Amino acid sequence: MKRFISHEELARDSRFKRAAARGRLLESLPDEVEGVVALMEQVAPTLRKRVEGTELEKVYDELGPGYPFLTQFGSLHPEDPNVDVQLRVRLHGIFVGELQALEGAGRTLWDFPEAPWEFRMNMARQCWDESRHCQVFEKLLDHVGVDVGDYPETTTLFEAACADDPTLRVAGVNRCLEGLACDAFRAMIDYAKEADDPVMEQAIDFVLADELTHVRFGSNWVKQFTRSDPDKFREAKEFQRDVERRFSIGSGRSGRDDAAIGIAREERLEAGFTEEELRELAEIADQGPSRDTLVEAAKVLRARHLARERGEPVEPMTWRPEEAAAG
Ligand SMILES: [Fe+2]
Ligand SMILES: [Fe+2]
Repeated sequence: MKRFISHEELARDSRFKRAAARGRLLESLPDEVEGVVALMEQVAPTLRKRVEGTELEKVYDELGPGYPFLTQFGSLHPEDPNVDVQLRVRLHGIFVGELQALEGAGRTLWDFPEAPWEFRMNMARQCWDESRHCQVFEKLLDHVGVDVGDYPETTTLFEAACADDPTLRVAGVNRCLEGLACDAFRAMIDYAKEADDPVMEQAIDFVLADELTHVRFGSNWVKQFTRSDPDKFREAKEFQRDVERRFSIGSGRSGRDDAAIGIAREERLEAGFTEEELRELAEIADQGPSRDTLVEAAKVLRARHLARERGEPVEPMTWRPEEAAAG
């Protein structure tokens, strides 16, 4: 069996709709409405293509290319008018994330046959957990009336984290992605409490307990693999920072007040993150446009999208970052 497969080789049945990776656009959006509108309109055709044939197609057609800011970026609250689509998209995203986590851990076990036996046992244990998580989230999809494949799947998690080196692999998968899972699950549990949904609350609480263990595997093995190799340690840190950057956007996941998903401090500390690492993570995540900017931009994008649909002329949005920066 082949080692080191690419994300394109991940096997899916015909229910799944694979979308091209979202690229790194979100990391570079400015904190200005015009800038967000101009950049999102540039990628609008790609975004539209990505949702084709999924439940998001009609969401896009109603809201235009800024739909993610109205449906995926806010924190989840039962009274939010978009809560249904927000919850569905998020649960489906987590379900495919669990699949990729299973694939990531399985590949790590297979890709590094020379790694210590305890390491491979940890990865085997993780596979067992992740397959249970896939089943838990498949049932939660059922619980909210979503079918597998209703929403597109991006393989960003697998792509970003599956390095060809065991130290970087666990730094990316176990510390960044499993850490991100802790953040996301803490936020989902808070939502389930608020929505008085004990099934969801308890199911995700069980999963979160496992994710802590997976982060801990990462913390332990990065330490062990780099014990007498400071260069490798620095390389792992840099890789981790880069992966964190891809998934930490101010009003997406961060420590900011307007973040959709906060940083699960307690869980991360328990799983081997240091205070300094948490500070660094907050710093990385601190950049990017505010939630208010994104919502405002989404409204402008919707108005322009609907005007175009009606056949009205819409001037292209011009935005020059240099001028904006110069004030
Ligand atoms: Fe998981
Ligand atoms: Fe996990």
